[in-house]
Amino acid sequence: MAQVLDGLRVRNEIFAELRPRIEQLRSSCRAPGLAVILVGDNPASAIYVRNKVKACEELGLYSETHTPPASVTTEELSDLVQALNRHPEIDGILVQMPLPPHVDARAVLLAVDPDKDVDGFHPLNVGRLVTGRPGLRPCTPSGILELLKRHSIPIAGREAVVVGRSDIVGKPTALMLLQEHATVTICHSRTRDLASVCRRADILVAAMGRPAAITGEFLKPGATVIDVGTNRLHDRAEVAAIFRNDAAKLAEFDRKGALLVGDVHPLDAAEKAGAYTPVPGGVGPLTIAMLMANTVEAAERRLRGC
Ligand code: GUN
Repeated sequence: MAQVLDGLRVRNEIFAELRPRIEQLRSSCRAPGLAVILVGDNPASAIYVRNKVKACEELGLYSETHTPPASVTTEELSDLVQALNRHPEIDGILVQMPLPPHVDARAVLLAVDPDKDVDGFHPLNVGRLVTGRPGLRPCTPSGILELLKRHSIPIAGREAVVVGRSDIVGKPTALMLLQEHATVTICHSRTRDLASVCRRADILVAAMGRPAAITGEFLKPGATVIDVGTNRLHDRAEVAAIFRNDAAKLAEFDRKGALLVGDVHPLDAAEKAGAYTPVPGGVGPLTIAMLMANTVEAAERRLRGC
């Protein structure tokens, strides 16, 4: 039976390690501060932002949320970011993605002070990651690395395959695995014979946003499978097909009206992988844990000598 990689347990460990550092900052100077910008009314983004603010409250961080309307311009958003760059009690700035299509997301991310870039999306921090220099790292990829390390899963010399090439997850995860000396392959929508490339993986990271698409034939027996997908299913027939008419899952779907599944087929992963992350409860909690860690780190650097 495959080992379940428990994201909640690792999140709790990381929170416990952050608490004394936060206490030290609070007693010697002030609480670390995070500003979150949530544009428009994307319901999924609103849930993510709510969870980030809740985590700040749980740990005693100061947070403020800015909610410009979907009609905001690139210039207005960049002005808001620059005001937060100057704000002395804000250590971290997060612009929740995606932004509306008329906004130039690259220009907005470029406006974030790299020292407050707790998402690690600014090109300076991306360059630091590419060249192996210290710097703020994207949260989901660093959460994946924490999950692997804290479950003692070896990375050096292993074959790692990352499915998905987004700037937020796929590319930085691949770079971080490379930095840990894995042999890394990045796959995407144009990859030929995806299943056979995935079957080479000792560590497989699925981050392409297609529900349960990575089935048993993509998995090397005993592989470690990291599922970054969060797909909300609204079709009962699809839930029945994926979970092979499992009565408990169908009852959960009927109760909630939707069901969350990852990019990896959950039953196939349990059957064939050596270890895998569940959805929910795998990678998700770690994204927030690493955001908190980045905010504390940014605050410690900014408040040195306070
Ligand atoms: N949208 C999806 N994931 C993320 C993330 O990690 N950070 C931000 N800012 N937006 C996201």
